[in-house]
Amino acid sequence: MKHSIEVTINGVQQTLDVDGDRPLLWVLRTDMGLTGTKYGCGIGLCGSCVVLIDGVAARSCQIFMSEVAGKEVTTIEGLAAGDEPGDLHPVQQAFMEHDALQCGYCTPGMILQGVSLLTENPDPNTEEIVNALEGNLCRCGAHKRIVQAMHTAAKMKGGG
Ligand code: FES
Ligand code: FES
Repeated sequence: MKHSIEVTINGVQQTLDVDGDRPLLWVLRTDMGLTGTKYGCGIGLCGSCVVLIDGVAARSCQIFMSEVAGKEVTTIEGLAAGDEPGDLHPVQQAFMEHDALQCGYCTPGMILQGVSLLTENPDPNTEEIVNALEGNLCRCGAHKRIVQAMHTAAKMKGGG
């Protein structure tokens, strides 16, 4: 059954007329065209659909719309402060500097998982980075450069 759900998406407050049991992933991708959030497994195992909910990483394929009522959702499209290259979030900037991707499919989820980690732990060591990101799968095998990028991002944010 459809409900009016108020949710802030990438800084814009919205009232959406949606089924409360519809996964957030599909509302973002299909209804809103925010295709930066990727579909990988659909069962919470790959991390490609990670978004921030109130600043904390969450797998949008496993979150129902009823659960985001009154909350703030940030997708990869809403992470940068503006449209200029210099406006990128430090984690995005560091991924670029380290070339921490190949096909890029895992990258939005990986970056948002990394942002969530740095909010919780501004100066993570390598083990903590690996532990935080190991649930985000990268089939291109860019993990080593991703870890390097996370160290750089922590420094850019003043943590490392
Ligand atoms: S698509 Fe959500 S965890 Fe894989
Ligand atoms: S860069 Fe291709 S899956 Fe990670």
